Amino acid sequence: MSTYQELYQQSINDPEAFWGEAASHLEWFKPADKILDMDAKPVPRWFVGGKFNTCHNALDRHVEAGNGDRNALIYDSPVTGNAKTYTYSELRDAVAKFAGVLRAQGVEKGDRVLVYMPMIPEAAIAMLACARLGAIHSVVFGGFAANELATRINDAQPKAIVSASCGIEPNRVVEYKPLLDEAIELSTHKPSSCVIYARPQAEAPLIEGRDIDWMTAVESAEPTECVPVDATDPLYILYTSGTTGQPKGVVRDNGGHAVAMHWTMKGIYNVEPGDVYWAASDVGWVVGHSYIVYAPLLAGCTTVMYEGKPVGTPDPGAFWRVIEQYKVKVLFTAPTAFRAIKKEDPDAEYMKKYDLSCMDSLFLAGERCDPDTLFWARDKLGKPVVDHWWQTETGWGIAANPLGIEPMEVKPGSPTVAMPGYDVQVLDEEGNEKAAGDMGNIVVKLPMPPSCLPTLWNNDQRFIDSYLSKYPGYYLTGDAGFKDEDGYLWIMSRTDDVINVAGHRLSTGAMEEVLAGHADIAECAVIGVADALKGQMPLGMVVLKAGVDRDMDELRKELIQRVRDLIGPVAAFKLVTVVKRLPKTRSGKILRGTMSSIADGTEWKMPATIDDPAILDEITEALQGLGYAK
Ligand code: COA
Ligand code: AMP
Repeated sequence: MSTYQELYQQSINDPEAFWGEAASHLEWFKPADKILDMDAKPVPRWFVGGKFNTCHNALDRHVEAGNGDRNALIYDSPVTGNAKTYTYSELRDAVAKFAGVLRAQGVEKGDRVLVYMPMIPEAAIAMLACARLGAIHSVVFGGFAANELATRINDAQPKAIVSASCGIEPNRVVEYKPLLDEAIELSTHKPSSCVIYARPQAEAPLIEGRDIDWMTAVESAEPTECVPVDATDPLYILYTSGTTGQPKGVVRDNGGHAVAMHWTMKGIYNVEPGDVYWAASDVGWVVGHSYIVYAPLLAGCTTVMYEGKPVGTPDPGAFWRVIEQYKVKVLFTAPTAFRAIKKEDPDAEYMKKYDLSCMDSLFLAGERCDPDTLFWARDKLGKPVVDHWWQTETGWGIAANPLGIEPMEVKPGSPTVAMPGYDVQVLDEEGNEKAAGDMGNIVVKLPMPPSCLPTLWNNDQRFIDSYLSKYPGYYLTGDAGFKDEDGYLWIMSRTDDVINVAGHRLSTGAMEEVLAGHADIAECAVIGVADALKGQMPLGMVVLKAGVDRDMDELRKELIQRVRDLIGPVAAFKLVTVVKRLPKTRSGKILRGTMSSIADGTEWKMPATIDDPAILDEITEALQGLGYAK
């Protein structure tokens, strides 16, 4: 068996041989003319000239190989009390029919379809149906508000939207239809049709001429074939938070994505066809795209789609119940889920009630994994726990412990080593490589491996400006950290205005835009502050316009509600304080990083360029009023 070092070196020295071999495990209508086109712009492209269909490889390929009776998808919903299993044949048939529904609505290869769905099998069916037709899906997480949905509708310009009457949170039914209607009202682009899946928990009156009922439409739909697309054609657009309120439309192509997804299932997670794999995330996030829908199905595994939470649905034993019931081999979730379980069940009493012998390992990602959480999970489970680092932009782990190649020594706090194809380096401001142990900007030397974004939707320039221009020839990850003397990576913080709240990536810049839009606010800053459960929480500091004289509690409530209404509950914006002034550099840049350090009580240095150091005392006092800067 090849060791990690051998495989890694091969992937860097001869990427075409490495990924060409990986591609041979999938079915191509036509193989690529060029495995890697180094001359493509703005970045090198994979599998150029290849003809492919992702849905064929995820579903039909397994059915045609005689594995149609194998379980493809298990839906488990403690919030509704429902569960349902689809075999590969059943899922293929459901997807082919729903693709027929979309085709009847005029959806063809290259058209965009926006999917705004809760964690029900129909979400995966809609995504795979798009893939079947060669249409491009754009899934929007259910915790976003109408305004965010409208921004995405305007950018992606979908021909159709697929949604449901509601999602279900433990404390409430989230009615999607009014949010969708409002979003379409707000957007300048209008979809020609909306397919709505009616759930019994909420009614969704349909708008005549635009909306159609999922169930009725499926009854008369013609099943469709898989439409061959170019390997470089987009499979999906997934919006993610950047520095501003305008989210970035990360584009994923068909061929490279499938090849990377398939490789990771054995290489990183060490699962085989037929194994049960569970990513406890949401289809609205990249983890859901990659590891609830595509990778497990491309690899012929059984995927679990769980509509519930780690705690409260009904108790902190929820994850262990699912693992035992469905014989889950690998669980993938965010550290925050484990912190939530640990908080409610510190001695893991609930875990003891279940037989977890089927489980091989736990993978964590989405935010920095604090060593305490890793130790707790490892001690209680008695299984390997792997922290791995990745981004929406890459679609899979940049660094991980490759259990399927060679399990490596674990260093808690580090997501281990670079995965094949990622030449990860740590650079100083001038572009020189940092010495081992020294913090710097983490970059990946081009070419990036398959699945990494080739551009941002309809916006090559923003792609170049955001990721490529700082260090020509390198992709800027936006993360800061270091490599140690053994080549292990340590990911310490973001270098931009992105924060990570309960494993959800959010833009403080977007929240600032919303606060600044309030009539009483002159200027504001939103920073991320440490939170024992969610990792980070957003905290807003606002300066009032001259002459504003208001009840502060009322104003704070308005601001919190405004962020909830315009961005969504997922922003978890609950902390806001009024200050007289914001600390700035002499050139007027707000010192957000310094304020975060003060809030968290971590070491900080007085910035040499600060305009008026006395303001920091006022900020410290305001932060103490919210329970920070202790
Ligand atoms: N639709 C609508 N609202 C949603 C939603 C969805 N799909 N997902 C979350 N929300 C709402 C929540 O109900 C909550 O609303 P509230 O302010 O009314 O309580 C708000 O958004 C914040 O949600 P969240 O940050 O998830 O906090 P929580 O208190 O509901 O749950 C955890 C905390 C730790 C249990 C939860 O965050 C969790 O399971 N995290 C796992 C992380 C994860 O899946 N990450 C994905 C990347 S791997
Ligand atoms: P997202 O695009 O939502 O997956 O968020 C990506 C960002 O989350 C990364 O750029 C990191 O800042 C952070 N992140 C994800 N996984 C890890 C990890 N294992 N360790 C540290 N940070 C992580």
